[in-house]
Amino acid sequence: MSQLAGATKQAKTAQGVSVEFKNVNHSFLHGNRPVRVLNDFNLRIEPSEFVSIVGPSGCGKTTALGMVGNLLKPRAGSVEIDGKPIRTGSNEAAFLFARDALLPWRRVRSNVELGMEVRGVPADERKVRAEEWLRKVRLHEFAESDVLHLSQGMRQRVAIARTLVQNPKVLLMDEPFAALDAQTRAIQQEEFTGLWEAERPTVIFVTHDLEEAILLSDRVILMASRPGRMVVDMKIDLERPRRQEMRRDSDVFKNYFHEMSDRLRQEVDLAEERLREENKNS
Ligand SMILES: Nc1ncnc2c1ncn2[C@@H]1O[C@H](COP(=O)(O)OP(=O)(O)OP(=O)(O)O)[C@@H](O)[C@H]1O
Ligand SMILES: [Mg+2]
Repeated sequence: MSQLAGATKQAKTAQGVSVEFKNVNHSFLHGNRPVRVLNDFNLRIEPSEFVSIVGPSGCGKTTALGMVGNLLKPRAGSVEIDGKPIRTGSNEAAFLFARDALLPWRRVRSNVELGMEVRGVPADERKVRAEEWLRKVRLHEFAESDVLHLSQGMRQRVAIARTLVQNPKVLLMDEPFAALDAQTRAIQQEEFTGLWEAERPTVIFVTHDLEEAILLSDRVILMASRPGRMVVDMKIDLERPRRQEMRRDSDVFKNYFHEMSDRLRQEVDLAEERLREENKNS
């Protein structure tokens, strides 16, 4: 009981922190030719803000997320979490991907415990916290099940539990619902935002789906490619909790969509053209 109270208290204290890209420039070598991926990329995300990034394939969305998650360093400029440069071994940010990356030889609960295990959380505390989160994602009855027996939507909920159980201050989501069918995806979007509203970590959410971005976010960033840069920064003033019906019933929602969809299509076409040019010149 006291352990559970402790775990609950810990979850309640989870607080988002700011994330800031300051004059970030980055390039990758394609053969021996440097290709500029991010150009003077400046973006400040406020503590507990839910920000989506949308843009053509190859514009640098995953690269930008990787910098916040300390998977790669910008060649120039800096990325700060909570006003401080990211340190080696810093664990403020956690990832959630489209592929749930569950370990098939571990049971459901043991998968949820994985991140805590890596961070050295004692076994009894791990168990209590994992069970608490499995309840939140409605999978407590499957705690000892084999992950291979779960549906894709259930697997993704295990992955969500595994990530959120670590109380990340920043959540980095790279097309997390892309592998799900439309119905499951709609359910996951609503359930996930419910969980997020209770904990409020800062979220950077990458998606190709503009409607999804508007429905979930406080702010939508639209990027152009070659080099990756921000072209639209739109605050989304829709009440919470967000509901799927808003796509259909809310004029405010539709206006945001119309304002951004033409620009997105235009940038996707331009990106393809630039790739064609690059291909010709390589
Ligand atoms: N490790 C790498 N080495 C070389 N080039 C890379 C590397 N990682 C990414 N790139 C290139 O950098 C560009 C941006 O890649 P990134 O994965 O960030 O794009 P993205 O916006 O996430 O695209 P998508 O929507 O397809 O996921 C692409 O042209 C990609 O080929
Ligand atoms: Mg990507």
